[in-house]
Parts: sequence; C-alpha cells; structure tokens
Amino acid sequence: MSFFTSENLERAQVLLGLYPEKRSALMPLCHLAQAQQGYLTKEAMEEIAKLLEIEPAEVFGTVSFYDMFHTEEVGKYLVSVCTNVACLLRGGLELLEHASDKLEVPVGGTTEDGLFTLEEVECVAHCDKAPCAQVNYRFFGPLGNDSFDQLVEDLRNDQLTDSVPPHGTLSRVFREAPSLVENEVIIAERVAMDQARQERQAAKDSNGGDSK
Ligand code: FES
Repeated sequence: MSFFTSENLERAQVLLGLYPEKRSALMPLCHLAQAQQGYLTKEAMEEIAKLLEIEPAEVFGTVSFYDMFHTEEVGKYLVSVCTNVACLLRGGLELLEHASDKLEVPVGGTTEDGLFTLEEVECVAHCDKAPCAQVNYRFFGPLGNDSFDQLVEDLRNDQLTDSVPPHGTLSRVFREAPSLVENEVIIAERVAMDQARQERQAAKDSNGGDSK
C-alpha cells in the first residue's frame, strides 16, 4: 500500500517530471510527505526512496540534516521562538520562558493534547519584528507575553486557520502544472543520458582510464 494518497502520488509524479535526474526531486518529495503527515515516517522515506530509485538511507540522511524536516510526530502547531541576537536583545529568551510556562511544556516538548510543540530557533529572518516566533513557519511578532497568550488562544479556537496551515505544509500552493515536456519524453531522455554516460565510461575504460 502506498504511503502517499492518490492525490499526492499524482503530485509526486509531477515533481519527478520536473527534473532531469529523479533524485533531484528528493527535497520536494520530502516536503510533500511532511505536508501529508506532519512528519516523515519510515514508510514515507522508504516510498520516496523507491520513487527516486535510491536507498532509504539516502533519504534519511537528507531528512536528518535539515531542521525543517521532522522524523517524529510534532504538535498540530509547531511554535518556534527565536532567541538569536536581535530577538534576544528585545526579550526573546523571556518570551521563550513565558511560552514554556503558558503551554506547560519544556522547550522541545509537545503538549498533552498534541496541539503545540515548542522549540527554540536561531534567527528566522524576522529581526525587525523582534522578539518573534513562527507557528508552522508563519511569522508572528513582535510578541510580548500578552500577545503570545492571545496567539495561543486564537490557535486553540481555530481562528487562524486562514493564515496558519496544518503543520508540515510549507506552501499551500502546489505546483500543479506539469513540465512542458511529456513524461514519456523525459523518460526517453533519461534513458539516452544513461546510455551516453555508459558509452563514455566504456570509452574511458578501453583507454585504460585515460579520459583525454
Ligand atoms: S534574531 Fe530573531 S528573527 Fe533574527
């Protein structure tokens, strides 16, 4: 059974068609899987590997390298409080402490109801609104204790669904348009590229490894 829903499987095929090398679709496919589930499960990574014809370990290697990919379940709302220098100077650390008290979770923890995960982050490029936070990668700031509390209440009451997408959704706008070239043409080009590569390698080997 496929990890991807049939709709997302179609999107995955569109993404695969955008690149001359299948493996180039690795990051977009990881984002797609995370948008579907909120985090990247083992099954998701295995399916991505299969689609890209690479090893699951290569997918995991990429996923584990980037902070924005999660391999464990996180709350519906990922609250990321910045404590880098501009925010720090304007109370970012105090905001983080307040967030921890308000949500009753330590930094890195998830509330019992599964609604919020709190994390501390480095500069998220919203310094002019310091101290700031992101919720599911959407910006909020400058935030004081009261405005943070209001933000939490609004999220709890589903009042920000227009501006804050479900966790894991980086972009609400999917690239629906397929590439201008038919998939069959891309596949044929891939085959031709592989063949040409093999021929170059064979020529190189027959020259004793001398590529000149
Ligand atoms: S220092 Fe906080 S957003 Fe840049």
